[in-house]
Amino acid sequence: MMASNRFLRSMELFEIANEYVVGGVHSNFRYREPHPIYFSKAKGSRLWDADGNEYIDCVINMGACILGHGYPKIVDAVKKALDNGLTVGLEPDISIEVSKLLSRMVPSAEYVRFSNTGTEAVIHAIHIARGFTGRYKIAKLEGGYNGWYDYVLVSGHPPLDKAGPPDEPTPVLGSAGLAKDVAESVIIIPFNNIEATEKILSKHSDELAAVIIEPVMFNVGCVLPKKGYLEALRKITHEYGIVLIFDEVITGFRSAPGGAQEYFGITPDMSVFGKAIANGFALSAVVGKREIMETVHPKRGKVAYAGTYNSNYISLAAAKVTLEELSDGKVQKYLHEAGARLAKRFSEMTEELGVKARLQHFAGKFQVYFTDREVVDYRTAVSCDSKKYSVFYESMLNSGIFMLPSYTIHHGVTAAHTEQDLESIASAMRNALIEVKKRFPD
Ligand SMILES: Cc1ncc(COP(=O)(O)O)c(C=O)c1O
Repeated sequence: MMASNRFLRSMELFEIANEYVVGGVHSNFRYREPHPIYFSKAKGSRLWDADGNEYIDCVINMGACILGHGYPKIVDAVKKALDNGLTVGLEPDISIEVSKLLSRMVPSAEYVRFSNTGTEAVIHAIHIARGFTGRYKIAKLEGGYNGWYDYVLVSGHPPLDKAGPPDEPTPVLGSAGLAKDVAESVIIIPFNNIEATEKILSKHSDELAAVIIEPVMFNVGCVLPKKGYLEALRKITHEYGIVLIFDEVITGFRSAPGGAQEYFGITPDMSVFGKAIANGFALSAVVGKREIMETVHPKRGKVAYAGTYNSNYISLAAAKVTLEELSDGKVQKYLHEAGARLAKRFSEMTEELGVKARLQHFAGKFQVYFTDREVVDYRTAVSCDSKKYSVFYESMLNSGIFMLPSYTIHHGVTAAHTEQDLESIASAMRNALIEVKKRFPD
């Protein structure tokens, strides 16, 4: 439980919010017991809640703020854009500049189209893949989250007693209200299991329009691809004419300037980007090979693509600066090093204190798992100790480090997190591990 006297204003706001807002939040991910925390300000690596509590932010807008909050060059560019008067519904000249920048940075980005959220980009990518191949089914990862579109809101967090065998998972709907044919139209593949993935894909090869995957599974915390997994996926999708879509909504731009596809040296047929693309402003992109993207061509294509808010002027002004800042690889180098440094400190502490826990990291993002074995997929992630994680989380929050209460979600740092911030996070982690050890002496 949170030390509630620190959160009196958040509690008060929750009561008022409950009158008008279902559950007091506008995204269910933000809900927590006994009440959500409401925020009022952010700058650099810091956040302030409605009670004035200051935090070092390790949630970073669910991964969106790669350069830190209120990055001055972006704030200036957005202010200028506001003065200019253009908003939405027209094709702004800046969209060409940002598309060119993106195309030069990302290996799979022969053609670019913008949208607003990661989910929208995923919807477009799936429509395009279906239109291009003439096939209908979609394969996605067990434990993968690709937004809230019906055909990906499947087996994101399935209860294990309903999830079927590990090498041939059963699709489990992630919500009520989805389209009727979702369970038959979505095929679930297990991350990092090459043999099972190949078997499943070959069984459905004639019907599959696309395989969509996060190259690093951040939506179960932080799970890296084993050597050969992405390569095998590339090979088999190529052989069967299935469109391989990398969901780079989180990996995008933090792995390398060209995303995880550049980092791992695997070029998918299509990719979707969001979050970090505009450092927290609403923008997403669908990119891909020319012949595939041609399906949305206004004259020659057969797949619809529209949106009043697509390529909105304000977000593009933010994206232009963000991408320019990310194009030389310096930020990514810092983030990779910051994650490695936290992991090293964490493993020294767990050894010293005798706690079975590990910090897995990639490109400055991380998750702490209470287990003594490597987390390699959804099932190993959910088998970690959630009770120990809750104690860890509460202690971190009380030390002024903002993390999320779920033991299978991702955290991270930004380019704005200083060495001193990293030290503060490490030292709070040490206290949190001591608390875990006290409560669970094993
Ligand atoms: C990998 C991935 N894809 C897609 C999405 C959906 O993006 P949005 O929340 O912008 O719709 C998310 C959101 O967290 C995500 O993590």
